[in-house]
Amino acid sequence: MRVPIIAGNWKMNTTVSEAIELVSEMRRKLDEIDDVEKVICPPFISLAVVKELIRGSSIRLGAQNLYFEEKGAYTGEISPLMLADLCEFVIIGHSERRQYFNETGEIVNKKLRAALKIGLKPILCIGEKLEENEAGRTEEVVTEQLESALAGIGSLGGLIIAYEPVWAIGTGKAATGRQVNETIGLIRHNVAQLYDKEVAQQMRILYGGSVTADNIAEFVQQSEIDGALVGGASLKASEFLSIVRQTSEIKGHLSG
Ligand code: PGA
Repeated sequence: MRVPIIAGNWKMNTTVSEAIELVSEMRRKLDEIDDVEKVICPPFISLAVVKELIRGSSIRLGAQNLYFEEKGAYTGEISPLMLADLCEFVIIGHSERRQYFNETGEIVNKKLRAALKIGLKPILCIGEKLEENEAGRTEEVVTEQLESALAGIGSLGGLIIAYEPVWAIGTGKAATGRQVNETIGLIRHNVAQLYDKEVAQQMRILYGGSVTADNIAEFVQQSEIDGALVGGASLKASEFLSIVRQTSEIKGHLSG
C-alpha cells in the first residue's frame, strides 16, 4: 500500500508573519489526521520558523526549489546542503520554473541528482501544456519529461512524481479524475520500464492543478492517484484541512 500524500505548495505567497499565522491556524488539526503524509512547502525564508512550529508533529516540511551546487559563489541561490538541514522534501521542475525561469530537462536532472545525493525527497513535476494536450501529445510530452528528468539516475530514493497538466494550474480548470488516472497509469508504466515493476508500484504519483476541497474526492478515489500537490487551496487553512481529511477518509476506505 502506498501512503497517500497531500503537499501544499505555497508558491511566492506569505510573508514570514503570515506563514506563522497560517501554520498556527492548521497545525493542531492537521497533525491529528492519520494515514496521509502532510507536507507544507512555504517560501525559503519561512522554512526555519515553520520547522520550529511543526516540531513534534506529524507535519512534514518541503522547499519549492533548490540549486544543484552544494555551495559557492552563486549569489542568491539555495543549496541542497542548506535545505537538508531544514526540510525533508523539495519540489523540482515545477512548470512555473520551467516557464518563467527557463529550467530545462537538463537542469531538472541536475537538481534531482543533487537532491537525491543529499537525501532530500524530490517531488518531481511533469505535465503537458494546453496546446500539447489539444494536439493529443500528452503521452509523448510526459514520457519525454520523465525520461530527461531521470536520465542516468540509478536509485530514486524517496522520489515522488506530481503530474500537473500546465493548463490546469491556477486556472480553476482541473482535469478529470479519469483522465488523470490514465496518465498516471502511463507514468507508472514508464517508471516500470525505466526501473522495475516494484519501484513503479511503490512510487507515489500525485495529481496537481486547481485541486480544491470540492474536487479532491474525484482524484483520490482513483486507484493510481496517490494524493495531490495543492497550490492556491493550500493557503487557506480550512480548505487544506478538508482536502487532507477527505484524502484520509477515501484512501482509508479504499484500502480497508
Ligand atoms: P494550483 O497549483 O493548485 O493553484 O492550481 C498547483 C501547483 O502548481 O502545484
